[in-house]
Amino acid sequence: MEVIQAPLKMQQRAEGWRRKGKVIAFVPTMGYFHEGHLSLMREGRRKGDILVVSIFVNPTQFAPGEDFERYPRDMERDLKMAEGVGADVVFAPEREDMYPPGFQTFVEVQEVTQHLCGLFRPGHFRGVTTVVAKLFNIVKPHIALFGQKDYQQLVTIRRMVKDLNMDVEIVGMPTVREEDGLAASSRNIYLSPQERERALSLYRSLLWAQEAFSRGERSGRRLMEGVREILQREGIREIDYVKVCDLETLEDIEGEIEGGALVALAAKVGKARLIDNIILKEGEVGKDHA
Ligand code: PAJ
Repeated sequence: MEVIQAPLKMQQRAEGWRRKGKVIAFVPTMGYFHEGHLSLMREGRRKGDILVVSIFVNPTQFAPGEDFERYPRDMERDLKMAEGVGADVVFAPEREDMYPPGFQTFVEVQEVTQHLCGLFRPGHFRGVTTVVAKLFNIVKPHIALFGQKDYQQLVTIRRMVKDLNMDVEIVGMPTVREEDGLAASSRNIYLSPQERERALSLYRSLLWAQEAFSRGERSGRRLMEGVREILQREGIREIDYVKVCDLETLEDIEGEIEGGALVALAAKVGKARLIDNIILKEGEVGKDHA
């Protein structure tokens, strides 16, 4: 496995593979790997001839006061794990490689970013789309894999790819959970044992929504209120949002759900801001993914 820091070198490698007709699969990450990241890499390994993984804690997607500085990092461990799943290259640029002095160009997806986390993390998705567009230009992938745990991110990237005619196939992957149901996240490390116990109510509340939906509950508002009640009852006080929304536009569904919907939530538990979601789909009860 090769580790590349310079964007130009990465581009030259990618160009070489492309000339030989190799299919490049790409998994962009911010590192501190967990099973969620690894599931994307394994699928990338299956789908491509070449697997590239990037590790870059992207400063432009963190607002002032967020956890950019203390975001967990462990390059040595990450490199071993990437090698373990058979990555060919880890692209790990430094901040100055991605944002040299004079940098001033951003990519912005305007509408789907106005809901859910977009309302609580100003500039976040602009940072995400900008860095992902740059990474696509550097790694030149045919296929890129993203997790449904960050559902709004996945929808935003699909939109960007479509709107800007980027020649990359976007693959969405189901949320990987710890044994107790907590969605795997690099930020789970911020949780104390007691906070972690409390954090389990996030998934429990989503499972309740799924059960209610399978019993025939179709009111977006009632599902939203039910989830919120469970969270409050279980001691989650700092709720950013609980939403039942359209799977494509992410607009709220207050009335009747037709076909399917996303139930998405974000809450602070101790120092960690956690997000989770579940997809409700007619005739697909019990599934956690589209
Ligand atoms: P990061 O949080 O490191 O996540 C990298 C990829 O792993 C994303 O596609 C994310 O959705 C996926 N992922 C995270 N937790 C998951 C889980 N429990 N199950 C399945 N997939 C999971 O998302 C980012 O980094 C950044 O915003 C990035 C896209 C790299 C741009 O900087």
